[in-house]
Amino acid sequence: MKRNFSTILAILLFQLVSAQRGTIDQRVDSLLRLMTLEEKAGQMNQYNGPWAATGPLTNDDQLLDQIKTGKVGSMLNATGAARTRELQALALQSRLKIPLLFGQDVIHGYRTIFPIPLAEAASWDLPAIERSARIAAVEAAAAGIHWTFAPMVDIARDPRWGRVMEGAGEDPLLGSLISAARVKGFQGKGFGQTDAVMACAKHFAAYGAAVGGRDYNSVDMSERQLWETYLPPFEAAAKAGVATFMNSFNDLNGIPATGNDYLQKTVLKGKWNFKGFVVSDWGSVGEMISHGYVQDSIGAAAAAAKAGCDMDMESRAFIRHLPALVKAGKVKMPVLDEAVRRILRKKFEMGLFDDSFRYSNEQREKEQWNNPAHLEAARDIARKSIVLLKNENSSLPLRKAWFRDPAKPVIAMVGPFVKAKSDHLGFWSYDWPDDSLRISSTWEAVQRRAWPGTELLYARGCGISDSSRAGFAEALQMATRADIVIVTIGEARDMSGEAKSRSSIRLPGVQEEMVKALVATGKPVVVLIHAGRPLVFNWIRENVPAIVYAWWLGTRAGDAIADVLFGDYNPSGKLPMTFPRSEGQIPVYYNYFNTGRPAKNENDLNYVSAYTDLPNSPAYPFGYGLSYTRFAYSNLSLSEPVLRSKGRIRVNVTVRNEGDYAGEETVQLYIRDRVGSVVRPVKELKQFQKVLLQTGESRTVTFTLTPDELRFYDAQLRYRYEPGDFDVFVGGSSAGGLQAAFALKP
Ligand code: BGC
Repeated sequence: MKRNFSTILAILLFQLVSAQRGTIDQRVDSLLRLMTLEEKAGQMNQYNGPWAATGPLTNDDQLLDQIKTGKVGSMLNATGAARTRELQALALQSRLKIPLLFGQDVIHGYRTIFPIPLAEAASWDLPAIERSARIAAVEAAAAGIHWTFAPMVDIARDPRWGRVMEGAGEDPLLGSLISAARVKGFQGKGFGQTDAVMACAKHFAAYGAAVGGRDYNSVDMSERQLWETYLPPFEAAAKAGVATFMNSFNDLNGIPATGNDYLQKTVLKGKWNFKGFVVSDWGSVGEMISHGYVQDSIGAAAAAAKAGCDMDMESRAFIRHLPALVKAGKVKMPVLDEAVRRILRKKFEMGLFDDSFRYSNEQREKEQWNNPAHLEAARDIARKSIVLLKNENSSLPLRKAWFRDPAKPVIAMVGPFVKAKSDHLGFWSYDWPDDSLRISSTWEAVQRRAWPGTELLYARGCGISDSSRAGFAEALQMATRADIVIVTIGEARDMSGEAKSRSSIRLPGVQEEMVKALVATGKPVVVLIHAGRPLVFNWIRENVPAIVYAWWLGTRAGDAIADVLFGDYNPSGKLPMTFPRSEGQIPVYYNYFNTGRPAKNENDLNYVSAYTDLPNSPAYPFGYGLSYTRFAYSNLSLSEPVLRSKGRIRVNVTVRNEGDYAGEETVQLYIRDRVGSVVRPVKELKQFQKVLLQTGESRTVTFTLTPDELRFYDAQLRYRYEPGDFDVFVGGSSAGGLQAAFALKP
């Protein structure tokens, strides 16, 4: 009976959804029939608004007239309930009254800034990541924004590339799970809700593999690597129902992504059956001229539209040339119809034809502007993103008993980030007038948290990138007076991000030199590093007892850092990217293929694949991160030695908290397919679980593996598994771990 009832309910729901869909498609079609060629090209045209520019601007002084005459389908960087309302009112003066879509780069928060995406990825905490995107959407939607250009899901193995900060790091599985979590977070309960924004999976595709880590550079890779490593997070976004995709600046094997038929039509709209629309990257349609792929802007418009790029961001190629191209028979009308259909469908789904102003709501904007729950969530994910890299002699957390006079602890705080505020926000964030009141600096947060009687000393010591040592003396003086020195160093907010590739990823300026001088005082030193990418800091890595990687953590950075320093939160972050020992080791990633001559150990240089001047291992491996407590792994066991093609295998492991603090561990399961028809990586992350363990507590963690998870792209790009032997590794990082084996049999 119950079953019958749920079946009927499911059928009714299906019919309802289909009916709604039918209605939308019918409405789209009737509107399309009324549209002129110019109006169609207008829907495919996106301009930058009057607010901020996130790329090189084309001067166009008739912007407002163009909106009124239906020549603009969408705008980016036109934000705020009042501003979007004004612009929308202009669009409604156009002949067909088609509302505008307002897009914006809401990458890691809008009003409340969350940790940069790479930092959030270090939390491996999917619900927290989803929540951060949800809150960003709530705030942005209230300000009239319909659409965010996020998540950025480019796999990145090269920390010289400044845009690693925007993504989830190097791993296809972690990247895919985070991609889906972010899409769900942004899109919430679905379009039609006034707090859901359309997400955009970008940059399609393989932008993260720009040669040499130089932004906008070419990408040359095998199709197999594309499918195996770079496409999975995009596919995950498509499966999660992402509304839009953005293509990318790079060429892929000689064809610019913007004009790439294979990517946009064969894969995305064909194989993945993606129903949303594709927007170009900023000016990327026109940039195909510089690539040498088309002669001029006319050729660019034709190539992009025919290849499945539906909307032109800021090139003006579509609006200027598509009508003439269609009239000349060089681009067929169905190409435009298809693109416009996709765009209009989203406008209908968003409810903009029913009420074009439903997002631009000053009252809601005001309510969300200072929502305290958002700040709390920002603090929560910020502390989960922090990675403890080193903690010799348990220098951290700070404990009263540890000071010379526990009734009067003296702490020196030194460095350019101690009192920093906006530098915590990271590259893709906006400056709001009252930010200084909302952003917690480390200094303020430590002052609030320190025990009564604590003496806090401060010296800036040096700048982030300048070469002045004038502040060293004061810094050393403070260090000498203190029991412990906390040093905050790193990259400035605009050093990692778009167009911020660096050939050297060392600490800029004289910061490392200052740390050396502070360590030379003999005082215990704790170093906090703020950055948007993995940096190289070998001297510090070898000589400083405690190192905390604190990225750019957003509005509540200071509080999150104080939580970790004083042990109110036990750090649990795990690196989502491998940290190299030097730039010469890049690209460096954990899931590489073995060579025919792998080195046996760090010192093995005898005609093996190695650098003669560097150990083979990285500075810190993928998945690595310490806790204030110790987690011991034991009893790795498999439910059976053989996995059958329709079967499953349970992998059990005992994890015990052997230290003095409750803590959360991310238990990671990797596999290695020992022999394949194409070679397989030395390790691949397949699953992970986060477990919170009290002191002394032990837990059996169980993973269930199925043959599906052992699939890979073979030489003919078939996605399948092959019978054979597999190793399983379970541990707290990609290096080491307990090991077992099983065989996969038909
Ligand atoms: C970036 C995109 C961004 C767009 C709009 C481009 O330069 O590559 O990621 O969404 O600008 O700001």
